Amino acid sequence: MITTTERQPSDQIQADTLIVPVFEDRKEERFGAAELFDTGEVTGKPLELTLLHHPAGMAVKRVLLAGAGKAENFNAAELRKLTGAAVRHLKSKSIKTVALELGSGWSTGDTVSAAIEGALLGNYEPDRYKSTNNKQSVEAFTVLTEADAEDLSAAAERGRILGEAQNFTRDLVNEPANRLTPLKMAEAAQKTASEFHLECEVLDQEKMSGLGMGALLGVAQGSAEPPALIVLRYRPGKSASHAHLGLVGKGVTFDTGGISIKPADGMEKMKYDMAGGAAMIGAMRAIAQLRPPIPVSAFVPCVENMPGSRAQRPGDIVTAMSGKTIEVINTDAEGRLILADAMTYARKQGCTHLVDAATLTGAIVVALGFVHVGLFTNDPSLRERVLAAAGAEGERMWPMPLDDDYKDYLKSAFADIPNVGGRWGGAITAAMFLKEFAEDTPWVHLDIAGTAWLDDGKPFLAKGPSGVPMRTLVRLATTWKD
Ligand code: BES
Ligand code: ZN
Ligand code: ZN
Repeated sequence: MITTTERQPSDQIQADTLIVPVFEDRKEERFGAAELFDTGEVTGKPLELTLLHHPAGMAVKRVLLAGAGKAENFNAAELRKLTGAAVRHLKSKSIKTVALELGSGWSTGDTVSAAIEGALLGNYEPDRYKSTNNKQSVEAFTVLTEADAEDLSAAAERGRILGEAQNFTRDLVNEPANRLTPLKMAEAAQKTASEFHLECEVLDQEKMSGLGMGALLGVAQGSAEPPALIVLRYRPGKSASHAHLGLVGKGVTFDTGGISIKPADGMEKMKYDMAGGAAMIGAMRAIAQLRPPIPVSAFVPCVENMPGSRAQRPGDIVTAMSGKTIEVINTDAEGRLILADAMTYARKQGCTHLVDAATLTGAIVVALGFVHVGLFTNDPSLRERVLAAAGAEGERMWPMPLDDDYKDYLKSAFADIPNVGGRWGGAITAAMFLKEFAEDTPWVHLDIAGTAWLDDGKPFLAKGPSGVPMRTLVRLATTWKD
């Protein structure tokens, strides 16, 4: 989809359809809409869509009235959903060229960017492997602004970069495990790196073994597919700070549970267990183009968790790169094992701040459902910054506790730490385990098990991978302040 901004009166624009946001508390008078408001056919409620044909005095053939809710609640996040829902509706009607009228006062960098992101996200369909030839998509999307279009072209470019990076993430997450093995994921990272001028290094089994990554390799050993630790590096021309942000993402290309095998029902979804890793690669793709002033590195440990004849067993004791010994009580708690070594490696590589994202626990879904990402931290100030970035990007996150008292839940009789706690507080004990490997580095952990995949589509987003929390990470890096 080609995305642009233009400063042009909306009545002269040539497009198949013009999207016009309408508010609950600001009756739209044009296009005969006043009458529709009076009869209650149009209310302006969020995401209500009404398609009008041959609007009087307009060059376009159609106007799509798009409910924007109350004007006081309208913001970039609402607009992102509005353009997403509008584009999804229009593409299903074979409409190809679309413009958005961004009314007075709404033309800011953040709204222009969000409008374009929403359009790109709404246009996306996880249909790569469907052979049907009636795939429909919008081909051109233009934001009509009141402000000088030149001022907003950087914002439009940012929206395109973010939307495309998020769809790239979604494509990667949606790849099935037979097509996206750990080595294939590393290839995808390498391709992204050469396309966007990032440094890329892939550590193989031998290298990891030399570094003492016993926790990661223990998970990998049950699969015929070799593991890979992807490292992507972005360096600014001149760094304005001593900070070095490390992004660590869980890259389990398939999680059978290993010897502690999962039930068959719904197991097919476990191809998404690399969504944290994919979000980090997607974030680096955007960061390479947006060029924040601090160095950012991504670390994505990729493994397949399988119950092969060489698989690790419950009761095995592995030694992590940090030197800690871990008793593997449950081989299905594999994410924390691979993240432990990736976090230690990130710290040794000089990262001063860490953010990890992982489809880590079913327990976070019990706690927060499919709405909020669970956020855990050892550093209140980094928490506030991540929450602020998430708020600005419309990616909902909720702070979870990580008090020392929970440490009592993680006791092993035979090793330094077990890989699971007891029955209760599963998302917290998982985070508590990771905290041991963050040591004294400021760190935020994002449990995205409930939010990285939409079991049901939304009007503005197809069913399947969501791309969360890629945009938050990019904003955190691009707005970094010491
Ligand atoms: N990848 C899963 C987390 C998961 C489970 C995501 C269900 C979505 C739905 C993770 O590796 C896992 O299996 N976690 C276990 C931990 C348990 C063994 C302590 C879980 O949550 O059941
Ligand atoms: Zn698991
Ligand atoms: Zn897993």
